[in-house]
Amino acid sequence: MKNIAVLGCTGSVGSQTLDIVRRFKNKFNVVLLSASKISDKLIQCIEEFKPKYVHIANDENINLKNIKLLKGEEGIKFYSQLDIDLYINGISGIAGIYPTYYLLKNGKKLITANKESIICLGELLKERYKDIIPIDSEHSAIFQTLINLKKEEVEKIYLTSSGGPFLNYDKEKLKNVSIEEAINHPRWKMGKKISVDSATLMNKALEVIEAHYLFDFDYSKIDVVIHPQSIIHSIVELIDGTMFANMSPTDMRYPIAYALFYPERKNIGIKKLKLTEIGKLEFLNPDLEKFPLLKIALEYAKKGGAYPIVITAVDEFVVKKFLNGKISFTDIPFLIEKVLKKAKFSKPENLKDIFKIINETKKLLEE
Ligand SMILES: NC(=O)c1ccc[n+]([C@@H]2O[C@H](COP(=O)([O-])OP(=O)(O)OC[C@H]3O[C@@H](n4cnc5c(N)ncnc54)[C@H](OP(=O)(O)O)[C@@H]3O)[C@@H](O)[C@H]2O)c1
Repeated sequence: MKNIAVLGCTGSVGSQTLDIVRRFKNKFNVVLLSASKISDKLIQCIEEFKPKYVHIANDENINLKNIKLLKGEEGIKFYSQLDIDLYINGISGIAGIYPTYYLLKNGKKLITANKESIICLGELLKERYKDIIPIDSEHSAIFQTLINLKKEEVEKIYLTSSGGPFLNYDKEKLKNVSIEEAINHPRWKMGKKISVDSATLMNKALEVIEAHYLFDFDYSKIDVVIHPQSIIHSIVELIDGTMFANMSPTDMRYPIAYALFYPERKNIGIKKLKLTEIGKLEFLNPDLEKFPLLKIALEYAKKGGAYPIVITAVDEFVVKKFLNGKISFTDIPFLIEKVLKKAKFSKPENLKDIFKIINETKKLLEE
């Protein structure tokens, strides 16, 4: 029986993690659940999984019988020191940085979908990334392939992208897309922020940066290919030209289950691929004119220093503006590039520096 903590338990990744736990009640004991706030969904999770600890980001109060309520950064520091076998970070955005930081600092085993924390912590905790099993589907695919290879055998890593909901839209049509259209991903059901990132292809840029830090490959060895069927989650090309592709249905429970049961494999009883039903698999180059963020974000990411943090932060703030109806879809790359051009920050040396850069980025955007 493994003691586990599910962070962001009310979200898309968190709910799918709990779905697997529900199927294997004799394998997992949920000790801690976290969310941003007290909500009906969180209460439902608490009633079903009966954790010993609950963490929320804000300062709300609620009387939970036999449960210790933890709050804010102090609460994260506390739970990062508990005797828990596996922590799953399914928190969205920048808020995921604190748990990733304190958990890695305390030498904990971390399963993370939260790419923002890997990107922002960047080189700061690089030596601890070996304690991470990623569950972003692309990174899980790469992890599963690299585990059987020597680093010097790898020529290139290809991250696949569905192309998002606007793959076949022309540039003109993109100007008037609605919020509903942007979050309606053709292949994956995800939270709103990552859905918008998938529509702009910023998600793929963030994933390239995540792969760069997580697997320690130079940017020149990581490429993006559009694969509308989303059956292949990533491809690793070897120096002799052989390619290993990792295939499974578009269901996050595949990478989550891999990480939860690692190093074992389990049949979790969900739909499997039927090859002849797939028909064909396509591979295209990304259209960087239509989706400029992929190019812009990577140009700045390669400069290193504070840029990966600025990219993550400005994207989060700009996407929030789009989701609040304040800006249009095509304003997103425009604003992000403007802030990146202005940002001149020093390389962070600690967690405090990272949040300083995030706050300064917010100020630049407001200007
Ligand atoms: N969804 C996917 O299929 C998928 C695939 C690959 C990678 N990812 C990555 O996984 C992460 C989560 O994505 P998601 O789609 O699951 O997001 P989501 O559905 O929006 O869920 C976000 C979760 O994070 C919690 N949260 C938000 N702000 C928080 C804070 N300040 N402190 C603590 N918890 C907070 C939310 O709690 P409340 O409900 O209380 O607000 C919720 O439980 C993202 O980094 C995303 O890029 C997701």
